This record gives sequence, structure tokens and C-alpha cells, in this order.
Amino acid sequence: MNKRKSMGIQHSMCVQPAFLIGTYDEDGNVNFAPITWVSVTCDADHYMLVISMFGTKKTKQNVIKTKQLSANLVSTNMLYLMDYFGSNSGHNGIKDKKSYDYSNGEILHVPTLDISKWVYECEVKTIVHTGDSDTFFCDIKNVQIDNDIDISDGIDLTLFDPVVYSGQYHSIGKHLGKIGDYIKED
Ligand SMILES: Cc1cc2nc3c(=O)[nH]c(=O)nc-3n(C[C@H](O)[C@H](O)[C@H](O)COP(=O)(O)O)c2cc1C
Repeated sequence: MNKRKSMGIQHSMCVQPAFLIGTYDEDGNVNFAPITWVSVTCDADHYMLVISMFGTKKTKQNVIKTKQLSANLVSTNMLYLMDYFGSNSGHNGIKDKKSYDYSNGEILHVPTLDISKWVYECEVKTIVHTGDSDTFFCDIKNVQIDNDIDISDGIDLTLFDPVVYSGQYHSIGKHLGKIGDYIKED
């Protein structure tokens, strides 16, 4: 007998790290907004980012127009930016009440946040509509990571100190090891 209770279907758990999505509009204005419905899949020979947005937000409109975006990993020292970008819409003007530095992408014409330790530069390949949401399947054209972090032996997420948002903000705990570390001899 398990110890669970049924809760209906109005809950979801999103335990992937949070990202700030960077876009330009048709006038070249920069915009960032938090999007946490982000996942990964792959095409024949490369990874793809899967990013889902509801409604008519500026970010979504920019992505539909330009087909390009950056996904900037949010570390805990960036929560003030995520809160600011998430409680304002680019539809109501440029989000310039908090200062931050950004650079253009190395490969694509996308704004990237200088403070972020992991940045994807992405090009939209396929859009899937469900209700009020659009899900963008994006080719990853470039990955930039912090100069001081070495991932040659695998990715230790704790070094990126990511924010996980699942209705509320969290940070992640311990690095627990690699695949195979827990295989037990019978
Ligand atoms: C923590 C957090 C996570 C969010 N995740 C998503 C998301 O996954 N998808 C989405 O469509 N909107 C999400 N939003 C809402 C947008 O970020 C918010 O509506 C923002 O103001 C849109 O700005 P824009 O109109 O400039 O694009 C999130 C907001 C916050 C604060």
C-alpha cells in the first residue's frame, strides 16, 4: 500500500533549472524574461532545447519573428534579475530599471547576459501549438560556459548554482556522483 493521495491535475513539477530567455525585437530592442518550461531533446546528431511559452508575451512574439533566442542559466545570484524581468513585460517598455550587462552571441544575433555561467544560442526549428502555448524546438548553435568552470570530466551542476523554480524558488543540493557509482555487487 503506498502513502500517496490524489491531488487532481492542476499541479506540475518543473525541476529543471530556470533560464532567462534573451531576444531582440524588430527594432533591435533587447528583452529578457524568465522561462522555466525548458527541456532538452535531440535531433540526428545534436542536442535541441525545448522551450514552452504561454500567452502573448513579448519574448514569444520576438521568437516567432526572429526565430532566434539565447537561454541564460539563472544562478542564485541572479534571482533579483529573474524577479525583475518576470514581473514586467517588454510590451510595456524596455526593462531598464535594473542595470545588467549583455553581449551579442558568438554565433547568432541574440543578446546574452554577461552574468550567466551557461548560455545557449538557439535557432527555432519547429513550433508546436497547444492551447494558448507555443513550444519551440530549437537547434543549439552554441554553448558558452563560465571561463572558470571545467566540464571536461562531466557537469557538476553545483558549480553553476542553478535556481530551480517549481512554483517557488529553490537551489540545488549536493553533487552525488556519476552514473555507475551506485551499482551494487550482489
Ligand atoms: C520564475 C518565473 C518563471 C516563468 N516561467 C515561464 C514559462 O516557463 N513560460 C512562460 O510562458 N512564462 C513564464 N513566466 C512568465 C514570464 O516570464 C512573464 O510573463 C514575463 O513578464 C514576460 O515578459 P515579456 O512579455 O517581456 O516576454 C515565468 C515567470 C517567472 C517569474
